[in-house]
Amino acid sequence: MSVIDQIKAKAKTQLKHIVLAEGDEPRTVQAAAKIVAEGLAKITLVGKEESIRKVAAETGTDLTGVTLVDPATYAKSEAYAEKLCELRQKKGMTPEQAKDLVYNNTLYFATMMLKMDDADGMVAGAINSTGNVLRPALQIIKTAPGISTVSSCFVMELPNGDYGDNGVMLFGDCAVNIEPNADELASIAVATAKTSRELLSAEPRVAMLSFSTKGSAKHEVVTRVQEATQKAHELAPDIQLDGELQADAALVPEVAKLKAPGSTVAGNRPNVLIFPNLAAGNIGYKLVQRLAGAKAIGPIIQGLAKPVNDLSRGCNVEEIVNTVAAVAVKAQG
Ligand code: ACO
Repeated sequence: MSVIDQIKAKAKTQLKHIVLAEGDEPRTVQAAAKIVAEGLAKITLVGKEESIRKVAAETGTDLTGVTLVDPATYAKSEAYAEKLCELRQKKGMTPEQAKDLVYNNTLYFATMMLKMDDADGMVAGAINSTGNVLRPALQIIKTAPGISTVSSCFVMELPNGDYGDNGVMLFGDCAVNIEPNADELASIAVATAKTSRELLSAEPRVAMLSFSTKGSAKHEVVTRVQEATQKAHELAPDIQLDGELQADAALVPEVAKLKAPGSTVAGNRPNVLIFPNLAAGNIGYKLVQRLAGAKAIGPIIQGLAKPVNDLSRGCNVEEIVNTVAAVAVKAQG
């Protein structure tokens, strides 16, 4: 069974309610109907009912079973605005600004639905940038207990089953934190390990990557990974994790024996790779995707107190369905 089929099967076991903030976006409307028809989640589309129904008619989509919510007429909009103002008062938000965001910005409205327990997860990004999707979540939902940094990972499905768990690995962080410090890097490692357990039911073996193995090079960016490794051990002593490791020392048993003898992770099929910064992570996942023919699923956003996920603006209907299934599984906890 492919990773996506496993995630979908898991989503069906405990139905969660996912809100889609870009309710009248055509691919989103079609995905909503598909998700409900496949029994993956309960869906709310946020937007003007008239424009959502128009898109449904134009795309031949049957919206039976999909809930439509218009912030202009929704009974709880006023309460959402009050709560948003209360949450952001210290940041200078006025009641007027909160009202404007709840009534006129569906990303904020949908994030408030999640905050107020009227939904279990939120997905958007077919027409909004990563920053615009994540900002309300960072401001309102905040991080999960014990996690200081929101980050992301990709599920990489390699054609070569010799690596990770039968070719499946997680790469983090490839989409959010540009230059993480040691604390943030530790947080990324722990969150990615948690995603491995939650999403893939796979016990993580985490390699903290660098251009140095066990002190072979000396530089402040190497020290940062060494410190992050130590901090991640302190944060989550139950996770099998080692660093700093070069990619070959992490992945190839013969190289691991030479460069990192005695490591429980190096050469032992690590299934979670943590990159030292966004440049390495983003370039790394795209190289593996393009040159090795791997399937890349994500970015999966992790570390928030409740699941919110971004989409690529070039996404198709199937990718929205898959992302919603992943968010639904994350919402199961
Ligand atoms: N974790 C936790 N909280 C955060 C994080 C984080 N990683 N980043 C920002 N915050 C919080 C801040 O503390 C702040 O909270 P406050 O308002 O309560 O004080 C709030 O979020 C807003 O902070 P800003 O610094 O203003 O964050 P901004 O909204 O500008 O940026 C963003 C956040 C968009 C995620 C930024 O980090 C970013 O642009 N990252 C790179 C994204 C990118 O370009 N990725 C590559 C492409 S994706 C791909 O290829 C798949």
